[in-house]
This record gives sequence, C-alpha cells and structure tokens, in this order.
Amino acid sequence: MAPVFDSQFCRLVGIPLPIVQAPIGGLAVPELAAAVSNAGGLGMLSVTWDESSEIDEKLARMRVLTDRPFGVNLVLDWPQAERLRQCLDAGVGIVSTFWGDPAPLVPIAHEAGAIFLHTAGDVAEARRAVDAGVDVIVAQGWEAGGHVRGEVATMALVPAVVDAVAPVPVVAAGGIGDGRGLAAVLMLGASAGWLGTRFVMAVEAPALPHYRDRLAAADASSTVYSSVFDVGWPNAPHRTLRNSTVEMWEAAGSPPSGERPGEGDREPIL
Ligand SMILES: Cc1cc2nc3c(=O)[nH]c(=O)nc-3n(C[C@H](O)[C@H](O)[C@H](O)COP(=O)(O)O)c2cc1C
Repeated sequence: MAPVFDSQFCRLVGIPLPIVQAPIGGLAVPELAAAVSNAGGLGMLSVTWDESSEIDEKLARMRVLTDRPFGVNLVLDWPQAERLRQCLDAGVGIVSTFWGDPAPLVPIAHEAGAIFLHTAGDVAEARRAVDAGVDVIVAQGWEAGGHVRGEVATMALVPAVVDAVAPVPVVAAGGIGDGRGLAAVLMLGASAGWLGTRFVMAVEAPALPHYRDRLAAADASSTVYSSVFDVGWPNAPHRTLRNSTVEMWEAAGSPPSGERPGEGDREPIL
C-alpha cells in the first residue's frame, strides 16, 4: 500500500496511515485487527490470556483476513515467554507489551526479526524500555481507557517522552477519539496514534450493544479512574465508564475487594 502519511513509525512497521488499533483485551479479535490493517492502519490482537490453541486459531484467521502487517500484545503481569515464542514461530513480526519489564523478551523477539513496542506511563519507564532495546515506545496518558499505567496526561506525557527517547519513535495513547486528537498528538511529536476506546465502537469488535450505547452517549466527564474492577488483576488502576457499580462502591467509601457492595453478582449492574 502506498504511504499516505510519512512517519518513522509508519515506515518501520510498513503501514500507510499513522493509526494503531490498540489491543483492547477480548475485543481485539482478528476481524477487528484485520479490518484496521486492511484499511492502512495497524491492527493488534490481544493474546495475553489465550491458550496455545486459541493463539493458533487467531493467527490462522488473520492469515485468511489480511496480508497486511499486524501485531500481537502481551500484558507482562503474567508469564508470556511461551506465548511470545509461539507467535514468533508463526511469523508475527510486531510485538507489543504492557505493564512490566520487557527486557527478558526483547532479545527473543529481535532474534526472530520482530519489531518490539512497549507501553510506558511515564518518562522513566520509557527510558528503561529503550535501554532494554525496545524499538517503539507507546506513551499512554492518564486519559486512557482500560488499565492505565501512569498518572501523566497525554498532552504532557507525549512531548516529554518524545524528547527523552529520541530518536526512538513514540506512539501516543490515551483520549484520542478522532482526527483532531490524532493531529494533536502528531503535533506533539508522536509518530502515530494508538486508539483503544474508539475501536471498541467498531462494528467488528464484539462489544455488548448496551455497552456500545453507553459509550456513544458518554461525554468527557463520563469516566472514572479507579481500582474498583480489580478481580483477576489487582493493583492495576483503570479508567471505565462511571456506572452504578462505581457509584455504589464510592458511596460505601471505596472499600477493598471482599467488602464491596454487590460483589460477585452475576448480573451486570448497568
Ligand atoms: C477495553 C480495553 C481493554 C484493553 N486491554 C488492553 C490489553 O489487553 N493490553 C494493552 O496493552 N492495553 C490494553 N488497553 C489499553 C489500550 O491499549 C490503550 O492504551 C488505551 O485504550 C488508549 O486509550 P483510549 O481508550 O482513550 O484510546 C485496553 C483498553 C481498553 C479500553
């Protein structure tokens, strides 16, 4: 595909548009990632919690759906060397990591010729990742949806990371929802934008219709940064929609896991 936008990141990964579909957990399915890659961005699969057979299925599906570059994402709060090796053996050329130390995995990926991206929430973490040999830093600002690594807003974080890690390219994440946001982070020195919540809305993402409606109706004040949804992944703050679960928890004085109102309810409280 002919380049439409020339940036260091676009050249490195071989895409014509400076848009990455962020790995958004179970919503980052092959149909979504392939649609983004086929449109000229970079699609990302999430394989953090997958069994080996599920990774095989996802990668086989990608081969059917696209011949464009795509990446896989691994969250490092869980051991990931085996999943990484499986993806590399299957020919995946772009790997991204989040929440932990990428240093042990970088040489494995480089040995296989893959490009390594790591998401950082502050300048110190970005510098450490570059020292470990990472090829691209994803600078994730506090506005980000999902799990949030740092406490610095995108507007302040991106130029600081760009300066700190130059000439390593930086991709900006957090609060980018349209072309204006993308243009803004490119002006801050980012080499591309990494959009998560916006792609939750894509028809290819298997989000529940009601959740999609809540996102569509949301405004800039509709989210909350908290630790309320910590089952299965403690000590990892996140940004979510403010719903009745959040409000009951706050009204009860934000108690820890085990003492929360409605905890363990099977029915979603919307
Ligand atoms: C539903 C959801 C799930 C996410 N899961 C992951 C994940 O598995 N791995 C990861 O590196 N980031 C994950 N993230 C964070 C995104 O990669 C990205 O940093 C974030 O969505 C950017 O902010 P935005 O939502 O404002 O675009 C997730 C985000 C969301 C909204």
